[in-house]
Amino acid sequence: MQFADAIRTTEFDAFYTFDPERLARATTAFVEAFPGKVLYAVKANPLPQVLSTARAAGVAGFDVASIAEALLVQAQVPGARCWFMNPAKSRRDIERSWRDLGLRDFVVDCAAELDKLLAVLPTHDASVRVYVRFHSGASDALYDLNSKFGASHEETLRLLQRIAAQTAWSTGLAFHPGSQTVSVEPYLGAMQTAARLIEQADASVSALDIGGGFPAPYDNMPVPPATSMLARLGEFVASSASLRRLELMCEPGRALVYDCMSLFARVILRKDDAVYCGAGIFGGLLPAQQFFRLPVRAWRDGRPIANTAADAQREFIVFGPTCDSNDRLAFPYALPSQLQEGDWIEFQHVGAYSESVRCAFNGFSVDHIVTLGAHELD
Ligand SMILES: Cc1ncc(COP(=O)(O)O)c(C=O)c1O
Repeated sequence: MQFADAIRTTEFDAFYTFDPERLARATTAFVEAFPGKVLYAVKANPLPQVLSTARAAGVAGFDVASIAEALLVQAQVPGARCWFMNPAKSRRDIERSWRDLGLRDFVVDCAAELDKLLAVLPTHDASVRVYVRFHSGASDALYDLNSKFGASHEETLRLLQRIAAQTAWSTGLAFHPGSQTVSVEPYLGAMQTAARLIEQADASVSALDIGGGFPAPYDNMPVPPATSMLARLGEFVASSASLRRLELMCEPGRALVYDCMSLFARVILRKDDAVYCGAGIFGGLLPAQQFFRLPVRAWRDGRPIANTAADAQREFIVFGPTCDSNDRLAFPYALPSQLQEGDWIEFQHVGAYSESVRCAFNGFSVDHIVTLGAHELD
């Protein structure tokens, strides 16, 4: 379906747009600025068209958290390499990913997970690389992932030592400061820790994976472009004798995809300063439930509603269509005061963690994705 048809339709009350050019631009800029391999974190947006566009724009491979994500990648981008970087994997998935899907890169952050790898994978297979994920230290991420994963300094050294003593596998280090990390310092701090670990390790470490978490700008959270952080990280690696000989990689999700999709939700009811839309927090706007104010635009008759005077806007409470009172966006949104039933609200910057986490609660489902032509909505 073309955008011009979707915006005029009466068949559904919400749809996504996907802009491949934006995704390709962001990906290429990131790949060019990062001094190592860029692995796209599939969890941020697993749509087939996103995987193939990211690959064509230069990502070296894919960070997957599950067998299902690895299968998606293999179906869409045959031959692409996947890194299985979830620190909690079932035995069945470890075995199947190695045997049937050819995965060779795995992460652990504790002895129990390493025990599983040692029991399931052939210890003489020198093509296997196991990364030990360590606690990255202080983080300013909006979603700090260190409360769930990350070995202590001592445990990291023990795990590296066990792998070296019991297997022919190579070893790497990994960390993840958390999603929407808004400054470079947490990365630099964790890289200093990595350099210390390498100096103290009784094993040779050949790779460092600095995770994802690079930020995206939202209306309430302007941040410098992720690529400006990468220059600092590159300088740091170059200045460290322990780090510069390593194979370096990262796993960005959000920073690559955030602005390649918009979610159009029809106003299905207006009550004074409240609007009820065709999609809400269950239907793709979960990131806006708590943390983010998304950039928005209102549309009528196939065109954006022009802002004609300073008083032409007012603040609206935005609800989704379900019966759940949690289905409400965290922030009020400034929209044209003339907004009425039948108009559309375009929520921008929903490329990350929207399509991948939505559900059809109460029967409201966003099933249409319109691929845009070059500069179609600019
Ligand atoms: C292991 C791992 N890698 C990469 C990512 C991607 O993070 P982001 O989308 O913030 O870049 C995540 C996010 O949860 C993750 O858990």
